[in-house]
Amino acid sequence: MDGAASVLGPGQLARLLGPWRVVGDSSRQPARLALAERIRSLILDGRIAVGARLPAERPLSEALQVSRTTITAAYTLLVEQGYAAARRGSGTFTALPERLLARPTGGFRDSENPDLIDLSCAGPAAPTAELRAATAWAADRLHLESGNAFRPYGLPELREAVAERYTARGLPTEPGQILVTAGAQGAISLVARLLVRQGDRVLVEGPTYANVIDSFTAARARLYPVPLDEATGWLDGASGRIPMAQAASRLAPRVVYSIPHFHNPTGMLMPPEHAGQLARAARRAGAWLLADETITDIALDVPVPPPFAAGVSPADAERLLVCGSLGKSFWGGIRVGWLRAPSRVVHELAAARASLDLASPVIDQLIAVAVLREGMGVDEARRVEARAGRAVLEAALREWTPDWTWHTPPGGLSLWVQLAEGEESTSLVYRAGTHGLVLQSGPRFGADPGTYERFLRLPYSQTPEMLREGMRRLAAARTALGPVRASEARRDLVA
Ligand SMILES: Cc1ncc(COP(=O)(O)O)c(C=O)c1O
Repeated sequence: MDGAASVLGPGQLARLLGPWRVVGDSSRQPARLALAERIRSLILDGRIAVGARLPAERPLSEALQVSRTTITAAYTLLVEQGYAAARRGSGTFTALPERLLARPTGGFRDSENPDLIDLSCAGPAAPTAELRAATAWAADRLHLESGNAFRPYGLPELREAVAERYTARGLPTEPGQILVTAGAQGAISLVARLLVRQGDRVLVEGPTYANVIDSFTAARARLYPVPLDEATGWLDGASGRIPMAQAASRLAPRVVYSIPHFHNPTGMLMPPEHAGQLARAARRAGAWLLADETITDIALDVPVPPPFAAGVSPADAERLLVCGSLGKSFWGGIRVGWLRAPSRVVHELAAARASLDLASPVIDQLIAVAVLREGMGVDEARRVEARAGRAVLEAALREWTPDWTWHTPPGGLSLWVQLAEGEESTSLVYRAGTHGLVLQSGPRFGADPGTYERFLRLPYSQTPEMLREGMRRLAAARTALGPVRASEARRDLVA
C-alpha cells in the first residue's frame, strides 16, 4: 500500500499551479524559483496535502513544458527549505518545515466584556420567544420522566422524534438507530473515543471543522487532510474522480470524516451522487464514514439537501455514521445532538459514553422534542437571518477589505476568506484581539499545522451591528499591522 496522503498526477499539478511563472512580485524570477514558490504556496494554502507524492520529474516537465533540470532544481529547493522530502526509490513528497508544526489553540472568549466582539463561533443567537415556549412545554412534562433519568441512549421520545425527522426526509429510520449526544460535538468525540486507537488513520477534508481535528488528535489518530478544490469541491476536475474516496482506498483509514452540506469552513455543498461513491470506498477500505450534517438545515440559496445516507447503498450504510444537532437551526445553548448509526454501534457507544458524560440533560432533551415534534423550531427564520447576515458581512468586507476574496457559499454560517498575498491570518487574529475582536485563524482549520495562513473564517450569524463593527475593527487591526510584508513563513524561498 502506498502511504502517501495523495498522489498528484502531472496534469493535476499543472492545473493547480495555474499561471505559475508570473506569480509573486517578479515575473523575471528564474523558473525553478517561481515553480518552487508556487508549489510552496499551494502547500501552505492547503491545496496540496502535506505528504502528497509529487509527480515524477519527466512527466511534469512535459506537462509544464519546461526542462527537466528546472523541475529537479525546483524540487531540490523545496527539499532544502523543508517543503518536500525525497524518498529513495519512491519519489518526492510534500512536507512542512519543523518550525511550522505547532498546532494553534482555539481563540475562545473567557470574558463577559460587553465591548468585545466575538466572531470565533458560527452559531445563532437564542430565539427568545421559541425558547420560552419550548422550555415551558418541557418543564410541564418533566414530572412525567420516571426513574433516575440516566439514559445513556437518550430519552425515548427524543430518539423517536429524531428518527421521524429522518424518515420524513426520505430516510426510513428506527429510534434504535439514534443515540442522543451532547451536541454534534459530543457524537464526534464519542466516535473518536470508541472507534479510534493510537496511530489509526483518519481522513478529513482540508480544511475542516477545527474541533474535529482536536478530537481525533486527542485520540492519537494520524490525520490525513484531503484538499477540497476551490472550484470543484470534492471532485478532481482533471480526473473526474473523488480524491477523498481514492485516499480511503489507498490509506485504509479507520474513519473518514466529511461535512457534505455547507461544509465548515468553506460552505461547499457535496452533490448527492458523491455520497454513494465516498461511502462505497470507505466501506471497501474497512473504514467508518462519519458524515456531519450539523449545518444541513442552513440552506440559503438551494433547497435543504437530502440526507447524506439517502444516496448510500444498504451494504455501505453498515459503515455509515451520521451526526446532527439543533445547534445551527435552533440554538447551540441546547446541548443536544445525535448520532444515527447501525443499532449495534449505538449500543457500544451508549456503553462508552458512561465514563464521559453518562447521559444528556433531561430538560434539554425535552426542549429538543418540543422543537422537533411540536413545531417550536425556527428553521425558516434562521435562514432569513443567515441570508441577511451574509449580505451584511459581504458588504462590510467589500468596504473595509476590498482586496480579500471569497466564494459566496450556498448555505452555512460563515465565509472562508482569502487574505491578500503575504498576509498572515495568525498575526491578524492576534492583533484583532487587541482591538476587542475574537476570531479563529485559518490554521485552526488545517489538520496540517502551518497551513491556511492566508485564510480567515468569518461567521455571519451575529447581529448586523456586531458584524459591521467587527469588520471595522478587523480593518483597524490590519492597518495597525502595517503594510503587508512577506511573513517569515513565506520569505525563506525567495531569500
Ligand atoms: C461541522 C460542525 N460539526 C459540529 C459542530 C458542533 O455542533 P454542536 O454545537 O451541535 O456540538 C459544529 C459547530 O460549529 C460544526 O460546524
